[in-house]
Amino acid sequence: MEFYDVIQTRRSVRRFLKRAVDEETIERVLDAARIAPSGGDRQPWRFVVVKEEQKKKRIARACYGQDFVAEAPVVLVCCAIKCSSGYEPWHDEAGRRDAVIAIDHLILAARNEGLGTCWVGAVHDKQVKKIVNVPDDVDVVMVVPIGYPASKTAFRKASGRKKLREICFLEQYGRKQ
Ligand SMILES: Cc1cc2nc3c(=O)[nH]c(=O)nc-3n(C[C@H](O)[C@H](O)[C@H](O)COP(=O)(O)O)c2cc1C
Repeated sequence: MEFYDVIQTRRSVRRFLKRAVDEETIERVLDAARIAPSGGDRQPWRFVVVKEEQKKKRIARACYGQDFVAEAPVVLVCCAIKCSSGYEPWHDEAGRRDAVIAIDHLILAARNEGLGTCWVGAVHDKQVKKIVNVPDDVDVVMVVPIGYPASKTAFRKASGRKKLREICFLEQYGRKQ
């Protein structure tokens, strides 16, 4: 697909077909995350690929009952090794920040493959950590269900986004271009 079409037609998908996603496709999507940039090239992201029905259901419950998560054939638990940047060691969100970049890569790659995804940030992290055995020094950053969308209109252009002039300033914050 053309790059800007991928970006413009990625939408949150919350209804999935039962159709399985083959291993090679998931691997290509994960590989897009693997090559993402990170501070100091730390690559702190880790991904747990979940397909077991019962486990997906438990994860969906731990996402505050967002049942649609378990309907996707594949659920990724996206994690980050806790770390801070050398420049501001008192902030410890560096690993999470890097992981989010990698997650965006994989979400756009999934769209390119015709797969629907949804960022699921409402996650009870302690519960999800237990379900997939995430160690203490690793954060759960996001849960991402992946599957073929049930609706033919799932990949439509965004509506209701702010205009560029509302979010971009010239030379100083608040000054309109
Ligand atoms: C960090 C983050 C967390 C989100 N968490 C959830 C969530 O827990 N559940 C959900 O259904 N959607 C969630 N979303 C999806 C947003 O609601 C959605 O991206 C936004 O409404 C714009 O719609 P679009 O993704 O279709 O363009 C989240 C999105 C982001 C970026």
